[in-house]
Amino acid sequence: MNLAVFASGRGSNFQAILRAIDDGRLSARVTLVLSNRSDAGALEIARARGIPAVHCSRKSFGSDSEFVTGMLAHLTDHRCDAIALAGYMKHVPAEVVAAYRNRITNIHPALLPAFGGAGMYGHHVHEAVYASGAKFSGATVHLVDEEYDRGPILLQEAVALDAEDTPDSIAAKVLTVEHRIYPIALQALAEGRIDIQGQRAWIRL
Ligand code: GAR
Repeated sequence: MNLAVFASGRGSNFQAILRAIDDGRLSARVTLVLSNRSDAGALEIARARGIPAVHCSRKSFGSDSEFVTGMLAHLTDHRCDAIALAGYMKHVPAEVVAAYRNRITNIHPALLPAFGGAGMYGHHVHEAVYASGAKFSGATVHLVDEEYDRGPILLQEAVALDAEDTPDSIAAKVLTVEHRIYPIALQALAEGRIDIQGQRAWIRL
């Protein structure tokens, strides 16, 4: 599987994907890293490994359709079969979702459908979980459709929270889980072990 990784930030999930590939847990090649931010750590990590790394932001294009055409051209040029969103903080254009239907995954730092949707990204999620007094959080890998954080859930793992937890400690606990489960879900995608029935998706073991 030729994988594109879309990332906006430091890229620790991207690194976890690379580690899984290096260890033989994930049968994939990252052929493209794309970011909406020119200063994303993920782009630096990619360049250091000789992986094609592109800055592709709506602001650099004259229109939505030119942006979509540009994004699709990058994906085609690098023969990408699937896209892993790894801390990508932008909406994926509907045309790209349609072109890669059921082949785009996202990792979300909470147990969807709770704590998802507009404005629920990065540290905001952990602040909201903390404020809610929830006793569990966790990570979710899901397929990406046209709506934020709403596509079929592939894999989740919970972490228990306690009175001593802070938003930062919740983030750290969840991140450890993210790094473990994202490669597992991507390997299922690579091996064609995902069954989709409407809004429900299951990984075959
Ligand atoms: C991760 O916690 C990821 O789940 C989250 O951003 C962080 C990126 O960290 N993604 C979202 O909030 C998407 N809605 P990373 O750059 O170190 O992988």
